[in-house]
Amino acid sequence: MTAAQVTIADRGTTNDSDTNEADWWRQAVVYQIYPRSFADANGDGIGDLAGIMSKVDYLAGLGIDAVWLSPFYPSALADGGYDVDDYRQVDPRIGTLDEFVDLVERLHRVGIRVFVDIVPNHSSNRHPWFREALAAAPGSPERARYVFRRGSGEQGEIPPSDWTAAFGGSTWEPVGDGWYYFHLFAPEQPDWNWDNDEVREDFLTTLRFWADRGVDGFRVDVAMGLAKGFGSDHPATLPTQAELAEIPIGPDHPYFDRDDVDEIYAGWREVFNQYDPPRVAVAELWSEPSDRKARYATPQSLGQAFYFDVMHAGWSATRVRRVVDMVLGWADQSGSSSTWVLSNHDVVRHASRLGLPDVDADDPWALAERDRRWLLSGGVTPSENIAVGLDRARALSVFLMGLPGSLYLYQGEELGLPEVADLDASARQDPVFFRSPGHNVGRDGCRVPLPWTASGPSFGFGSAGSHLPQPAWFGDYAVERQEADPNSTLALYRRALQLRRELQGPQRLTWVESGSARSRVLHFVRPGGWHVLTNFADHRLTWGQLGLVQPSADRILLATTELTQSAVPAHTTAWWR
Ligand code: GLC
Ligand code: CA
Repeated sequence: MTAAQVTIADRGTTNDSDTNEADWWRQAVVYQIYPRSFADANGDGIGDLAGIMSKVDYLAGLGIDAVWLSPFYPSALADGGYDVDDYRQVDPRIGTLDEFVDLVERLHRVGIRVFVDIVPNHSSNRHPWFREALAAAPGSPERARYVFRRGSGEQGEIPPSDWTAAFGGSTWEPVGDGWYYFHLFAPEQPDWNWDNDEVREDFLTTLRFWADRGVDGFRVDVAMGLAKGFGSDHPATLPTQAELAEIPIGPDHPYFDRDDVDEIYAGWREVFNQYDPPRVAVAELWSEPSDRKARYATPQSLGQAFYFDVMHAGWSATRVRRVVDMVLGWADQSGSSSTWVLSNHDVVRHASRLGLPDVDADDPWALAERDRRWLLSGGVTPSENIAVGLDRARALSVFLMGLPGSLYLYQGEELGLPEVADLDASARQDPVFFRSPGHNVGRDGCRVPLPWTASGPSFGFGSAGSHLPQPAWFGDYAVERQEADPNSTLALYRRALQLRRELQGPQRLTWVESGSARSRVLHFVRPGGWHVLTNFADHRLTWGQLGLVQPSADRILLATTELTQSAVPAHTTAWWR
């Protein structure tokens, strides 16, 4: 057995940085709650804060360090709540501010911290400031809070550019007077103008508002998008969509990852540091691998960034290894920690994804493209693929749990829940579905309300229906059922997270190269002799093939499928010491 390399050095102010209160987030496990789909206490089909309150014991039993609540703010739900009408209020369908404060207190009492979602790239078109902007004249201070530009042609009838929005259609919406406002996403989501001091000040007020109510951290939506290199007083001509596609995101791009975002987050950091312990934040970054991502994670900026690259590595030892080294490098470079994510409310659930045929391409978007096509074709999955997907999901999740750094889980993944891939068009809510007809079915399939019980109305989600229909098979994955089964995915998550907490040490790992099986296996050791090994092959590998002496039974801590016949089965992760 050869110790290959030490990939990351200790981080933080002391050798064991996690003992420092202010560093609690560095290796935290954060569980994402999509409030509308978690638990519905009042039986109106929409999950609510009282529902989350009723599941605090469940959350505590998972062994997580924090929850992140996706938006619960007043919203017309043009984009599942990422279209915010009021940044400092709770949607009455979800609860009240008092309930929010109670919930934070309750979670804190069981040792769970709270992140809220901040959506700074755009508001909703119902936000009072946007209404004011529409009512005011071109060039007015009211319009200056958003990104307006005049169209060309005599009456301004030609939009400022032919750019396409992330959800389809134009990025420019005419307002009837020859002017247009810019929206990166749906027309109901007008982009803020971050050159505007009132906008900047108002977001600082929002950050303080939630921090004063006990919120520990912020997940920052579309963190790369805020700074715009255009607007009413910027260059007269904009690149065409074809030209835009050639501009790498970064300083020269009109709206993605410009250098000026750094200064915005430096201002946020000042606010975070006024609290004790300092408030924390994590940047949502969707981009190709780039060292620029680490900028968002420095102590002068948001402090942590999502590196979704592992999602795009699929089920491949070589690709996962490459991503792990890359992400640990960024963590080191930024003085932060790595973030590991397999699922969230924007992607196909990984228990389904990992059962699909692999696409071995260097293009980071190749697998997302495969998933899009799969959903479009009706999401049919042969039952053997369901079983393989679940085995791989368990193995890859437990592999990530062993890595240094923090881990973000998405509600339902602890149940091994698959995607609901065949939702009827009439049930769909995601604007992606409506704005890209025939191209994209959207993200509703990972947002279907959780099954808590094996039967009964909405499988225990609430006393009545659920806002997205649950399939009949949901009951098989119910919490109730999994609590009674020691081999369930829920039992595995609980056990692994508990062990992880006990074993966690400095943010370091040492790769072990695995004999002749190298390209199909990943194996590393954490400080304290905690071994993590994943067999990515479709067949079992004996300990001999792995170049290892079989650890005695009392040294095995955990395995995602049963270890038999002196071998590690296919699609399995084992931990030992
Ligand atoms: C982020 C959110 C996504 C939303 C988009 C626009 O990517 O995660 O759900 O649609 O931003 O706000
Ligand atoms: Ca409700």
